[in-house]
Amino acid sequence: MKKLAIDGGERTVPKGTLKPWPPIDNTDREAVLRVFENQVLCGGGAPETVALQKEWAAYIGRKHCLATNSGTAALHMALAAAQVGMGDEVIVPAYTFLASASCVLHALAVPIFVDIDERTFNIDPAKIEEKITQRTKAIIPVHLHGLPADMDQIMAIAKKHNLVVIEDACQAHGAEYKGKKVGSFGDFSAFSLNSSKNLCGGEGGFFLTDDDTYLMRGDMLRMFGDEIDDETQLRVYNASILGYMFRTQELPAAFARAQLKRLDQNNAIRQKNCAALTEVLSDYPWVMTPYTPEDRTHVYWMYIVRFDPEKAGVNLSPREFRVAIEKALHMEGVAVGQWQIMPVPAQDLFQTQLGHGQGFPWRNNPLYDRQVTYRGEDYPVASKICEDYTAIIGTNPPNGGQLMEMYAEAFRKVFDNLDVVVKHKDDDIVAHFSGDVFMAA
Ligand SMILES: Cc1ncc(COP(=O)(O)O)c(C=O)c1O
Repeated sequence: MKKLAIDGGERTVPKGTLKPWPPIDNTDREAVLRVFENQVLCGGGAPETVALQKEWAAYIGRKHCLATNSGTAALHMALAAAQVGMGDEVIVPAYTFLASASCVLHALAVPIFVDIDERTFNIDPAKIEEKITQRTKAIIPVHLHGLPADMDQIMAIAKKHNLVVIEDACQAHGAEYKGKKVGSFGDFSAFSLNSSKNLCGGEGGFFLTDDDTYLMRGDMLRMFGDEIDDETQLRVYNASILGYMFRTQELPAAFARAQLKRLDQNNAIRQKNCAALTEVLSDYPWVMTPYTPEDRTHVYWMYIVRFDPEKAGVNLSPREFRVAIEKALHMEGVAVGQWQIMPVPAQDLFQTQLGHGQGFPWRNNPLYDRQVTYRGEDYPVASKICEDYTAIIGTNPPNGGQLMEMYAEAFRKVFDNLDVVVKHKDDDIVAHFSGDVFMAA
């Protein structure tokens, strides 16, 4: 048996093997150069932006799409277009990226968190209704890691309680639920185009809806609250509502259009890579691999596994065991580590409740007299997975079979030698992937 790298042996995956995301080819270069040739760099009606909006609406199967400068902006626009605001509450999963909840604060409303399902990592529909109050106006289901949330149940609850649904599809470009693309279910949906995402523009986002009034409000919110003259299609420079500057630019729009042509193909490579890892990891009953219910497809923005020390017969806490394995895999050259480290409501922003300053919207808010407290332990599933999960990075194209085979070898080497792994559990090694693969910190 080969000596583990953490024990002085040779690393399994040579440095430089892992290729970053996204793959960039000549069609991307041509798209970006086209923008320079046109000499139009921005504008709500600029050609690349308008074409991208059309193409994305068609891809998702929605009537309207507005391109934004981020997914966070698209979420904020959706809440504002739905007229969610002061005194309102919005249901958000307790485990997601911060922006799924901070957009609610941006809209001056209060996020109310619901725990997640242990197998899908998505909001647990069975726990939503107990959090609904007179103040609840919307639900933001998140299709986390690329796996669709349980949309039938969520839409039924929303209908029963007359709630707006804003799908946070920022991690799930192309994923399907019962044969339909995510982003086509809620009253609104939001996507991100940041550089880590399955569809990448560098930065950017999409706001989608089928509703003409929501589109009109979204359009004004996106650009200063300013109106566009129906006849000339020019701005009138007379803001009638409070808007923002959430418009995208032509360079990221052109780049995203070129990338969109390869989205399905790239998603298929992710699925193949992840299936290869799952097959190897299935030999280890103490490793929990991603679960995909039969009625949906997973596009694996991120590939997540969990470790159970008890099942492995190792006398460590889940956190200690997970960290020990991360260190050993990291030394083998596997890009591994945690993304979110705690449930969103456990973050300082929610503990201090400073909000917009002086505690707004939780305090100093004439329309909100409820005391909300956020405690990580109130979300036991989200808290538990933060102890024992890790993300395996590198399942993105252009990585393929060669890297997956190296990863498989590294897994076997590490997992068949847990006694050595445990011996090195306190070594001074930090396994953290962010920065190397996705974006500069
Ligand atoms: C689930 C989720 N929601 C919202 C966002 C916000 O997207 P952006 O970074 O484009 O603002 C992200 C990504 O960062 C995300 O992963």
